[in-house]
Amino acid sequence: MAPRLNKKVAVITGGTRGLGRAIAETYARAGAAVVVASRSASSVAETVADLRAQGYRAEGISCDVGDIQQVRALADVARMTFGGIDIWVNNAGVAGVFGPTLDIPRAQYRQVIDTNILGTYNGSTVALEHLRGRGRGKLINLVGRGDRKPAPLQNAYGPSKAWVRNFTLGLAAEYPAREVGIFAFNPGLVITDLLTDVDVVSGYEERVRGLDKVIKLWGEPPEVPARKALWLASSATDGRTGLAVTLLTRRRLAGGILRAGLRALLRRPAVAPPVRPHVVA
Ligand SMILES: NC(=O)c1ccc[n+]([C@@H]2O[C@H](COP(=O)([O-])OP(=O)(O)OC[C@H]3O[C@@H](n4cnc5c(N)ncnc54)[C@H](OP(=O)(O)O)[C@@H]3O)[C@@H](O)[C@H]2O)c1
Repeated sequence: MAPRLNKKVAVITGGTRGLGRAIAETYARAGAAVVVASRSASSVAETVADLRAQGYRAEGISCDVGDIQQVRALADVARMTFGGIDIWVNNAGVAGVFGPTLDIPRAQYRQVIDTNILGTYNGSTVALEHLRGRGRGKLINLVGRGDRKPAPLQNAYGPSKAWVRNFTLGLAAEYPAREVGIFAFNPGLVITDLLTDVDVVSGYEERVRGLDKVIKLWGEPPEVPARKALWLASSATDGRTGLAVTLLTRRRLAGGILRAGLRALLRRPAVAPPVRPHVVA
């Protein structure tokens, strides 16, 4: 049986698209009241309306996670609407531009730092002020490619995720597990805009299209990692902290190869759309 989140209040940044939206729906289905945030006010309104139409308790606010005032306002909305915060997922993230570091426009490099690093710092510190008082709170920070080793041609995203991993595990060592569980979560290859709509330096389009093969093998719909994010947020992890959980285990890697082989044998189409490179520099 899927874990329950009855009476819990969860904040999900970047909760309007892709993985964040799937996490919001999964948590709401498990009984949580959810608060979603992203920069686009219209996406927030649409997501909240959709969740409420399904009978779930939902609220939202437009928020750029790089701005501490906006992150504080997000926490205030959760507190004033639902009475507190039990779970906070720092999911908002951007991939930046694919290509050699010197060709990446500074503004886009900076956007990755502001969202993935500063956004996670803002979200984590504001969240902890609330979670520590509730007991058994859960803070989940999203990591990804580059969190454990260099990611050439993604030299803003990769280092940002290495920072998130280190920061998260450092934070976990600072606060007792009985008060709060602090986790780093790598969702594997998730079929979302971030993976398939890729900003790229001119001349690197083919390198990006080459990702298709990898996505066909191991790409998963957002609902799959969302189930793992539910487990992380649930009582199953009570009393634990400092976990770094990854979806792409050896078993899944082998399963992906088997599934792709079967699809080819049965001449079934791939589940993921082809990668679309957008030249920005
Ligand atoms: N997709 C993958 O294969 C993969 C793999 C490993 C890790 N991850 C991580 O998983 C997380 C979610 O990725 P995704 O694939 O679901 O991406 P996505 O489909 O592009 O969705 C990103 C979400 O974040 C929001 N967002 C972006 N910048 C923001 C900001 N500054 N402030 C607030 N919200 C912001 C977006 O909404 P607005 O544009 O309206 O702000 C959107 O809701 C990211 O942290 C990513 O690094 C993804």
